[in-house]
Amino acid sequence: MAGERRPAEEGAAAGGAEEPGAKRARAGREGGAGAEGGMAAAAAWAAFRALGSPARHVAPMVDGSELAFRMLCRRHGADCAYSPMIHARLFVENQKYRESYFTTCGEDRPLLAQFCANEPATLLAAAQLLEDRVDMVDLNLGCPQRIAKRGNYGAFLMDDLQRVEAMVSLLSRELKVPVSCKIRIFPETKPYTQTLAYAKMLERAGCQLLAVHGRTREQKRTADFRADWDAIRAVREHVEIPVLANGDVRHLRDARALMEYTGAVGVLSADPLLRHPGLFDDAVHDAEGNPTHKPWSCCDYAEEYLDLCVQYDTPHRIIVLHMYRFLGDWFKEHHDLREKFSKLHKHLKGEEKFALMREVCDELRERIKACGRSAPVPKLSERALARLEREEAVKAAKEEQDREVRALAEVDAMKARMEGAAVGAGGGGSGAEAATSAGDQGK
Ligand SMILES: Cc1cc2nc3c(=O)[nH]c(=O)nc-3n(C[C@H](O)[C@H](O)[C@H](O)COP(=O)(O)O)c2cc1C
Repeated sequence: MAGERRPAEEGAAAGGAEEPGAKRARAGREGGAGAEGGMAAAAAWAAFRALGSPARHVAPMVDGSELAFRMLCRRHGADCAYSPMIHARLFVENQKYRESYFTTCGEDRPLLAQFCANEPATLLAAAQLLEDRVDMVDLNLGCPQRIAKRGNYGAFLMDDLQRVEAMVSLLSRELKVPVSCKIRIFPETKPYTQTLAYAKMLERAGCQLLAVHGRTREQKRTADFRADWDAIRAVREHVEIPVLANGDVRHLRDARALMEYTGAVGVLSADPLLRHPGLFDDAVHDAEGNPTHKPWSCCDYAEEYLDLCVQYDTPHRIIVLHMYRFLGDWFKEHHDLREKFSKLHKHLKGEEKFALMREVCDELRERIKACGRSAPVPKLSERALARLEREEAVKAAKEEQDREVRALAEVDAMKARMEGAAVGAGGGGSGAEAATSAGDQGK
C-alpha cells in the first residue's frame, strides 16, 4: 500500500492540514511567526515528506512497540512507527540496556526513537548514539505514570517548560535528524491557552513533528476518559509544523474521523493496535473503515508475530504480553487454553516454546471457527466457579440458621402466650403483653 493515496490522507488534506505557504501568509498578515518561523515550518514539512508523509503510526509503547511488533504492524498497514520509550541516561551509561532496549533492521523505517530525559546534555548524548539508525528522535512529554513523576520526566515536565525548551532546542541544533515531541494537553477547556502556548514553544524550540495525545496528565486510564479532539484541532490550527493526533482510534474509521476532525496529518494508535495489529489495514476494513476481519484473525496475527519473534530476537516477557493481548479476550471463554498457555511458556525454551504457543493458537482458531460467533462469551474460570459455589454454600447455611432462630423464637413466643393465658385465667397480668415481649426477644 506504500505510495497509494488513501481516503484518510485525502480527508486530512481536505480537512485543512495546512501546508506552510498558506499558513505563513496568514501568520504574516496576523503579525505571526515571520520569515524565520516560516522557514522552520517549511523545513518541518520537508522532513515530514521525507518520511513519506506517513499517516498511520504505531505509537510508542513500553513493552509493546518493539521491533517484532512494529514489523507486524508495518505488514498490516502502519506506515511509520515509534520505538518504545528509551531512558536516555541508562542508554548512555549501560551497554546491556542499550543492546536490549533498542533493536532495529533495514526494513524498520520510517522509525522514530523515543527518549525520556530531563537533562539536555544526556538526552543529546543518547540520541547521538542512534541518530544514524532512525529518521527522527522523539521526546516523551506525555508519560503520566508514577515512575515518570519520580524520575521527573514525561508529562511531569509540563511543570518545567524551560527545561523542555532547553532539551528540544539543543537536539534541534545538534542532531543530524529532526526532533519530534509527544505531548499531553493541560487540564483546561477552550481556548486551551496553556496547551497552545506549550505547542508554540516547542515549535519555536525546533520541534518538527508534534504528536498530541488529547488527554491530560491526570487522565491516566485511557478507557475512562474520552480524548479531547477539539484540543488537538486547536493545536493543529495554532502551529505551523505537522501535527499527529492520538486518542480514541479503535478502527480505521476512527483514524479517518480523527484526521478529518482535527486536520492532523496522521494518527497514532497504541492500545487498540496491540489487540488488533490490522487496525490500519485497508484490506480488513470496508469502504467506511469498519472492520471486516475474521473472528479468528487474532490467532493469525499471533502466529505471524511468533514468526517475527523468531526472526527478530524478542524477550520472552514481551512475547507473552503480546500473546495475551492478541488472545486474551477469547481466553476468557476458553480457560483450559489459557491454563495450557500459562503453564507451558514457563518451562520451555526455544523452538519447543514457539511450537506449543502455535498449538494453542491453532486449537483456539478451530474453536472460534466452530462456534460461529464473532465475539467470545466470557465464562467464569474453575477457580472463580469454585469460589462462587463456596459463597453460595455459606449463604445457604446462614439463611438456614436464620430460619431456625426465627422458628425457635416463634415457639418461645407461643409458649409465652400460652403461659400468659394460663396466668391470666388465674388472675395474673396481661398475657398478650408477655407474648409480645417474648416474640420480640426472639427476633
Ligand atoms: C502498553 C502501553 C505502553 C505505552 N508506552 C508509552 C511510551 O513508551 N511512550 C509514550 O509516549 N506513550 C506510551 N503509551 C501511551 C500511548 O503511546 C498513547 O499515547 C496512549 O495509549 C493513547 O493512545 P491509544 O488510545 O491509542 O491507546 C503507552 C501505552 C500503552 C497502552
